[in-house]
Parts: sequence; C-alpha cells; structure tokens
Amino acid sequence: MPSFYITTAIDYVNGSPHLGHAYEKVLTDVIARFRRLMGDRVHFLTGTDEHGQKVQQSAQKRGIAPAKFADEVSAEFRALLPRLSISNDDFIRTTEERHKRVVREILQQLFDQGEIYLAEYRGFYSTRQEQFLQEKDRQPDGTWPEIFGEVTEIVEANYFFRLRKYQEWLVGFLTANPDWIFPRYRQKQVLEFLKEPLNDLCISRPRERLEWGIPLPFDEKFVTYVWFDALVNYVSAVRDRPGTWPASVHVIGKDILVPPHAVYWPIMLHAAGLALPKQIVAHGWWMQSGAKMSKSTGNALNPLDLVSEFGVDAFRYYLIREMNVGQDSDFTREQFLVRYNSELANNLGNLVNRTLNMTTRFAGGVVPVPGPDGDLEQHLKALWAKTSAEFIPLCEGYQFHTALERAMVFLTETNAYIEKRAPWKLGKSADPADQALLKTALATMAESLRLAVALLPAVMPSTTDKINAVLGHTPGSSWRDELAWGQRLTGNKVAEALVLFPRPAAPAAPAAPRKA
Ligand code: MSP
Repeated sequence: MPSFYITTAIDYVNGSPHLGHAYEKVLTDVIARFRRLMGDRVHFLTGTDEHGQKVQQSAQKRGIAPAKFADEVSAEFRALLPRLSISNDDFIRTTEERHKRVVREILQQLFDQGEIYLAEYRGFYSTRQEQFLQEKDRQPDGTWPEIFGEVTEIVEANYFFRLRKYQEWLVGFLTANPDWIFPRYRQKQVLEFLKEPLNDLCISRPRERLEWGIPLPFDEKFVTYVWFDALVNYVSAVRDRPGTWPASVHVIGKDILVPPHAVYWPIMLHAAGLALPKQIVAHGWWMQSGAKMSKSTGNALNPLDLVSEFGVDAFRYYLIREMNVGQDSDFTREQFLVRYNSELANNLGNLVNRTLNMTTRFAGGVVPVPGPDGDLEQHLKALWAKTSAEFIPLCEGYQFHTALERAMVFLTETNAYIEKRAPWKLGKSADPADQALLKTALATMAESLRLAVALLPAVMPSTTDKINAVLGHTPGSSWRDELAWGQRLTGNKVAEALVLFPRPAAPAAPAAPRKA
C-alpha cells in the first residue's frame, strides 16, 4: 500500500482561526481523503506554530505567560478540526518536547558540519514582521512601508546559515523537477527570485530581545529564528514513524512559498542530508472586497458561523467548489447562498427527495430490477462513463473545483432524465411496456444517485454517509469498483425521506403595503 504523508502549514497562535486557515485544512483534508479512497496509507499532519516575537507580544498584552497564551490559542485551532470534519492523524505544537528535540538536533548537526557560523549583523529590523529588511524594501521616499510597523537599526552578533552556498544546487533541482511546486507558474516565480544572489540566512535572535523560542544547542544565549523552528515540524512530527518522511505534499498558502518553503526548506533539508518533500501545493487567498482576509485587516470571517448556519458539508463543498487551487477567490455570502441553493438544495437534495419519494410511491420503497434501457438511459450511462473517467485525473491534478462541477452536471442531467422519463406518468399506465419502463426509471435514478454520491465522500463525508444510509447501501472497499455502473441497489429498501440542505432562515420580509 503506497504511503502518503500530507501536511498543512502550522498556524501562528497570535490570533483566532479564520476562513483562510479553515480553507487550508479543508483542502488538505480533501486531498487526504481522496488518497485514502485511492488506496494509499495516509498520514495527515497539522498543528500550531507557537514561538516568536508576535506570540510573546500578544501574551504580554494579555498580561499572561507566552506558554499559557499559546496553550489557549492552540486549543482553539485544535477544536476547529472536528467541527470541520478534518481527518488529521496528528497535531503538532512547536512547544512540544518531541519538536524542540529535533530542531536542536538538526541545528547541532548543521553547526558541526560548518553550515552555521557566527557573524556581526547590522541591519534594519521590523518587529512586526520579525525580520531584517533590505534596502530594496524601502519606499522611494526612503521610509519603510506600513506593513513593517516600527523599523529600528540594530547591530548584533548572530548565527547565519549558509544559504548562498546552495543557490546553484536549488536552481538545478527546480529546473530538473518542474512539477515540484503546484501550480507550475509559481515554480517559475521561485526561479525568478533565485536570479538575485541569496544572502545567508540569519537564524538566531539574542535571548535578551526574544525569550520565547528554542535555545540554540551550541549557544544558549540565542534562540532560533521562527522559520527554522516552524519548518522542522514536518520532520519532527514523524521522527518516530520510520518510513514516513519525506512528505508527499506540503499544502501551504502562496504567501509562505517564497522564500520559506521554496528556498529555505529545501536547502535546510539538503544541507542536513534529508530527502526533500515530493511536492508543494501553494493555494491562493480568500479575499473580501479585494483584500486578503486576515486578522490584521479586520475582515476575517469566523468559519464556525457558516458551519453552524449551513452545516459542515455545505461549507466544505463551497470552499472546494469555489476556489481554483492556486488562485484567489472573493468570499461573498451571496455567492455562498447561490451555490447552496442551486447546487446542493435544488440539484443534489432534489434528486435524493425524488428518488426516495418515487421509489416509495411506485415500488413500495424497494429499488426494482430494471427493464430494458431506452435512449434516455443510454445517454445517461454514456455521460456517467465520461464523468467517472475524468473525475480521478482531475482530483490528481488538484482540479477539485472542476471535478465537483462535473459531478453537478451529472446530477443536473439525472434530474433532467427524470423530467423526460416522467415516472409519475408511467405509474398511471397499466401497459406492461410502461410498467417495465417505470422499473427502469426508478432503478436508473437510484443508481445514478448512488454513483454521483460516490464522487463526493472526500468533500462531503457526512452527506455521503447519510445518503448511502437512506439508500441501504454500504460502499465496498474498492473506490474504483464503486464508480462502476452496476445496479448495486436492486432489492434495497430505501427510506421515505431525508432532509439534507434545509432552506436557510430567510431575512424578515418587508411588511406588505396596506391596501387603502
Ligand atoms: N506559521 C506560519 C506557517 C509555518 S509553516 C511551517 C504561518 N501561519 S499563519 O497562521 O499566518 O498562516 C497559516 C496558513 O494559513 C498559511 O498557509 C497561510 O497562507 C494561510 N492563510 C492565512 N490567511 C489566508 C487567506 N486569507 N486565505 C487562504 N489562506 C491563507 O504563516
């Protein structure tokens, strides 16, 4: 059984989770569930990034110790996972001993190898971004952009990691592996970035300035830089699981691709003699009115509000259906409602209702043996053959939004088939040919529903379970077999009704004008 190790970015614990964080978990979960359906042995990791200046400052503001602050916020991120039906196998916190031990081991190894050296550093430091700035970061008038907050000139001794030494190697690696980063065009941006000479990376902060971090094993007067600490989580979490590293996929947002994941991380691993992850998937941002959704811009949506209102599966469906992985999407409640109503309630929900209702009305609730196919059935089967053949490659290429769109087209066509076949008319006829066709119609709509639902478990796990339950169907262990048209439901007793996507509470209607 192939093993598939997948990770999300680990979230900073300096603010509550918002829709952007939720999306990344859901996307990663969809990939993880898809790989499980494909037969892989999946290990899925997520977690929280807890050290650094920002966390120390946020804790100070609250007047509590950073460790206590990190405990609280990390618990909030963790509690979100079951609410989003995330099937992670592990949750790592960078404050855990298992992590700190590995960070220190790797630092010591790199230091012993001569990859890390002490030098004097003079530079302009942004406390907000926790980084030294470069001259090119200045605005034309010499001031620093707003995003850096307060900028001060600092001269201090620090440790550096020999990044530049590996620049040529990295360019060679990326050129030889053009699909290492998805989408491909992002890899081109990395190569563009690498046209400029790299500076060695300052990987320490003096403890007098930053106490909240992992001390360097070879000089306890310093703690390690937050990225060096954070990136290692992917390795530290599986240190005791032989054969798990390298990761198959790191799922991250585009803002943390260059330089951390596409430059620092491969060089750190290569220098330490560790294998590289097989792929990095960089998704885009959820925006609101054109601005990135984030805590600092104050436009962050609480994912739990949407989950409470519409249910977790509708929320997951919307995120995956709407976002083309890699590109940005604007979040609007209107668009959410459009998809909820037209695709989930009117298309999928409607097919479920009609199937249950008509099977109950015309066949005593038992899916009949179909009679011979007519043109309409053949047409639907041909569409299914195309849909099912395209679905897996689309998912393998992270085109989940298109894969779901194809599933929707099949559902639409099945509903259209029912309109044309009109079982309610056949039900009224005593003609044996009509009665045979009625059986065909009922069996075809039930089988089409089973098949459409077989496309959805990675995105809507509980909806899939509910529909299978009312159809009396227990999916087999091979997903590919499930996708074959097979009249699997013949003889099953179905339930009478299932409410899946209730109409959201309508806003209070304006009072009707009184007639004079
Ligand atoms: N702690 C670092 C990651 C370290 S990984 C070794 C970090 N944390 S974060 O909390 O700021 O972001 C976590 C993830 O959420 C990142 O992948 C980021 O891109 C993603 N998102 C944060 N806001 C987002 C949107 N508005 N939209 C989509 N995802 C975005 O960076």
